[in-house]
Amino acid sequence: MPEPLPLVCVEDFRRRAAALLLPEVFDYFAGAAGDESSLEHQRASLNRMRICPRVLRTTGLCDLGVEVLGATWSMPLLISPTAFQRMAHPEGEAAMARAAAAEGVPMVLSMCSGITVEEAAGAYGEHGPGLWFQLYIQEDRGFTQAIVERAEAAGCRALVLTVDSPVLGLKERNARNRFVLPEGLVLANFCEATPGGTLSERAFTLVKLGWEDVEWLRARTSLPLLLKGILHPEDAAEALARGADGIFVSNHGGRQLGGVMASIDAVAPVVEIVDGRVPVLMDGGIQRGEDILRALAGGASAVGLGRPPLWGLAVAGEIGVREILTLLREDLARVLALCGCANPQDVSARLIRIVAS
Ligand SMILES: Cc1cc2nc3c(=O)[nH]c(=O)nc-3n(C[C@H](O)[C@H](O)[C@H](O)COP(=O)(O)O)c2cc1C
Repeated sequence: MPEPLPLVCVEDFRRRAAALLLPEVFDYFAGAAGDESSLEHQRASLNRMRICPRVLRTTGLCDLGVEVLGATWSMPLLISPTAFQRMAHPEGEAAMARAAAAEGVPMVLSMCSGITVEEAAGAYGEHGPGLWFQLYIQEDRGFTQAIVERAEAAGCRALVLTVDSPVLGLKERNARNRFVLPEGLVLANFCEATPGGTLSERAFTLVKLGWEDVEWLRARTSLPLLLKGILHPEDAAEALARGADGIFVSNHGGRQLGGVMASIDAVAPVVEIVDGRVPVLMDGGIQRGEDILRALAGGASAVGLGRPPLWGLAVAGEIGVREILTLLREDLARVLALCGCANPQDVSARLIRIVAS
């Protein structure tokens, strides 16, 4: 047997994960809504941002650290919330949390995790910029309030309210595969393993949510509150008016609305309207140091990764996630140096030329 080739980029990990996971599980992670064209658009929009580097300006040694919401991150990157990580690896969210903490970046725990928020906080530990908690407001506001209080008590450092999911997007791959979540997987935060081990999709069934619900939540937590799933600048303005402490620009990895715009294209207009009042984060399609630079050039404070750490998790658990984070760290340092930037704060829109596709 020839030795397997080394995995040197996110795409290598994705291919290896595809070979290791059950096809329907890989499709669950990889898939998007509708005709899935948003995945290509996401990449095409990033690639249209050509980089125009500066020369003879740095020693080549970059400090990647950033300050976001009062915490120091080792680089401008965080783990975006993804549900059901134990389908990628038996240690799921616990391995993800350990890897994020070890690499000095926050992890956003999905409300739909296979371990409880308390367990994830234990796995993340005391070091690193912290565990954040992602929330879908539930019709049962008593339950919603209780889970927010649990996240606070567990030591979560921020709350991420996902606002782009009034209904669940249609993923044709899952329908074609007749995909059902594996037996035994539980929505641990809901303490709701139904008999036989199957799982209800209660967490996603959102009804009648409006801006007043953001105010409702704002009044019930002292944690920094970020709204995730914002694309329209007017929604960003509304979010600030309702007390948000950060905007998370995201199209949910293309998994909600088919034909949705690329998140990267939404960054600059949102940044303009936010005008420095709160940090703007973004996720969607980030695979390389160049992509992180493009998002920073648009004015984002940091980027999130959804699928890439899942591929790392599938390939080698905690070590695989750390490899993904390490390769992006090294890539970003190299890209910044090649652009004449000493740190992420040096990146500006002047480094980018938008070209026709
Ligand atoms: C398998 C999977 C599950 C996800 N689950 C959640 C979730 O529970 N809550 C949420 O706010 N976003 C969820 N997302 C969206 C991610 O947080 C993120 O916005 C998206 O994956 C970013 O795009 P990328 O995968 O290209 O990095 C999920 C994405 C994937 C791929």
